[in-house]
Amino acid sequence: VATDATWPPFEIVDEATKEIVGYDIDLFKAIAEKAGFEVEFVNLPFDSVLAGVSTCQYDAAISAITITEERKASMLFSDPYINAGQIVTVQSSNTEINSKDDLVGKTIGVQLATTGEIEAKAIADTTVKPYDSVDLAFLDLQNGQVDAVIADYPTAFGFVQKSPDKLKTVGDVFTDESYGIAVCNTKPELVDMSNTALKALVDEGKLAEFEVVWLSGE
Ligand code: ARG
Repeated sequence: VATDATWPPFEIVDEATKEIVGYDIDLFKAIAEKAGFEVEFVNLPFDSVLAGVSTCQYDAAISAITITEERKASMLFSDPYINAGQIVTVQSSNTEINSKDDLVGKTIGVQLATTGEIEAKAIADTTVKPYDSVDLAFLDLQNGQVDAVIADYPTAFGFVQKSPDKLKTVGDVFTDESYGIAVCNTKPELVDMSNTALKALVDEGKLAEFEVVWLSGE
């Protein structure tokens, strides 16, 4: 199972233990346990996660992946398990950018191959800087190398919380996105197994538990 463990709180490498942890990891482990299969996570950049699952190099991917029509053309998806749209983050001292509408002509940092990149490119006259991981985009934002970062709101909130004196989000969450588990096209049975397990976990209140553990900081 491929994942890009640079996206807190869904998948990150725990500095102390060097293990991949996060909401998605707990969720997929619980699914595997319910469905009765073994899981091995492979950590790789997000664009490679998508490419790897669409070429069936991996059976599946869990990586805060937004279900989109375009992606559905090359991979299968489980039922949605969480909602997370895009939000704009700027330096906390910024008074000029108050929402997505103020981004015309600006330089925007995003993670490569994400829906944030697609949204940034859709704004007129922007210079979009794609980064291998979003932490580098937030770092460049702090250093003034980009005017804003567009990313999934739970992840953006996490980075703002870590540096509230330097970063702030502005405006509303401006897209409606749902995360799904991506599955290799030739493994529809894995989608069925995942959906059955997912339903059971929702009914048992497990997803709500994972939210408390990983998302309550917001
Ligand atoms: N939800 C966004 C997308 O699907 C960003 C996901 C990035 N995930 C990650 N693990 N880096 O494009």
